[in-house]
Amino acid sequence: MHHFHYSGSDLHCESVDLAAVAKLYGTPTYVYSAATMEDHFRRLQRSLAGLDVQLCYAAKANSSLAILRHFSNLGAGFDLVSGGEIRRVLAAGGHVKSSVFAGVGKTEAEIALALQHGIFSFHVESEPELARINHVAGKLGLKAPIAIRVNPDVDAHTHAKITTGKSDNKFGIPLKYAAAAYEAAAKYPNVQIKGVQMHIGSQLTSVAPFVEAVTKVGPFAADLKAKYGISYFSIGGGMGIVYREALASGQAAWWEAQPAEQRPLTPESYGAALVPLLQPLGLKILLEHGRFMVGNAGVLLSRVEHLKRGAAKNFLIVDAAMNDLVRPAMYDSFHEIVPLHRDSSRRALVADVVGPICESGDCFAKDRQLQEVGEGELVAFMSAGAYGYTMASRYNTRAMAAEVLVRGSAFELINARETFEQMIAGEKVPAFLK
Ligand code: LLP
Repeated sequence: MHHFHYSGSDLHCESVDLAAVAKLYGTPTYVYSAATMEDHFRRLQRSLAGLDVQLCYAAKANSSLAILRHFSNLGAGFDLVSGGEIRRVLAAGGHVKSSVFAGVGKTEAEIALALQHGIFSFHVESEPELARINHVAGKLGLKAPIAIRVNPDVDAHTHAKITTGKSDNKFGIPLKYAAAAYEAAAKYPNVQIKGVQMHIGSQLTSVAPFVEAVTKVGPFAADLKAKYGISYFSIGGGMGIVYREALASGQAAWWEAQPAEQRPLTPESYGAALVPLLQPLGLKILLEHGRFMVGNAGVLLSRVEHLKRGAAKNFLIVDAAMNDLVRPAMYDSFHEIVPLHRDSSRRALVADVVGPICESGDCFAKDRQLQEVGEGELVAFMSAGAYGYTMASRYNTRAMAAEVLVRGSAFELINARETFEQMIAGEKVPAFLK
């Protein structure tokens, strides 16, 4: 559920009229609901009651400082994947000490930064990486806390580009080799074995692959506890969200109306299936959800430039583009598109919704059924809170969008729209061209 809804005919985020946000800050602009994030965080926590849980919000989903601070205030640690993300947590006033550092190519400098700030644990993806962590920790006179990421070879049944737990993915150490990797780790003087980790993919819409992976890795975690006294098991992130009927899914009634067998994954069904499997292990359980925390908590506001009626198709040309929200171009993903001001007397329109970028891939939706909206009107791309702004680029020298956070009836700019001067600040024409 989330806090985007029509009040009268106008789309609101919590108590804020989104048209007012667009008027003040222009478009394209990302708008996030603080209440939605808090609800999701607490629901997940509640659904895992009975376990000793540490929520490490996956910062890659949305790493704006305000959002990191919001989660930190709620008690979250973070799942981090770069020195940049570590520095973001520090800049936001969050805790590196309750955060984990993942990724297949951590540099020596990044490892040192994480160690100096007391990272809770490194999630190690290979034996060469283990050697590197040991080396850097030794130079600093520190012991590096580690967990090895095991790859359970489970099909997450999600998009190929975001599947991570199959044996042909670059991630983790195959379960059958993991015992040897732990034996190797035990011999390094500057690492301390602290846990075990897995993550099988993103946007999972059923609990079955999670159950399969926990069932595979759980007994191994129990062995590690007996052998090395590990204290935690991170089961990764990956919980999917609703994209197709995103707006309607903000209402409890929508969830109740879904037939049981088609009901999307909820934290409650996730918890109900996993708690009984995890509880007997007696380990702290880390969770690294990103999308579930922020995906439905954000929209991208955009203004219609033109409605172009072509020979074969209509094109609704908006001022947001693939540089602002790349998911449809990259994963063919679906984002619901709704007008900020709805009016049932409008005509129906079937159109491709496209941005102004000079390639055909700059398309948000094909043959989408919409209410007819004309030049200057505002639309919202739903479920854009996760992997929206963080995957944005400056392609076509388009500035990074603005970001706004709403709480109740208050809203504030949390990231100003980039200026042209900021975009070219690091560039120069070399002397030999002058
Ligand atoms: N833990 C690890 C080790 C991960 O690699 C990821 C995501 C997460 C946690 C968080 O997964 P989540 O709970 O958000 O599903 N850009 C893609 C998603 C890429 C996910 C990468 N790893 C998209 O827009 O769908």
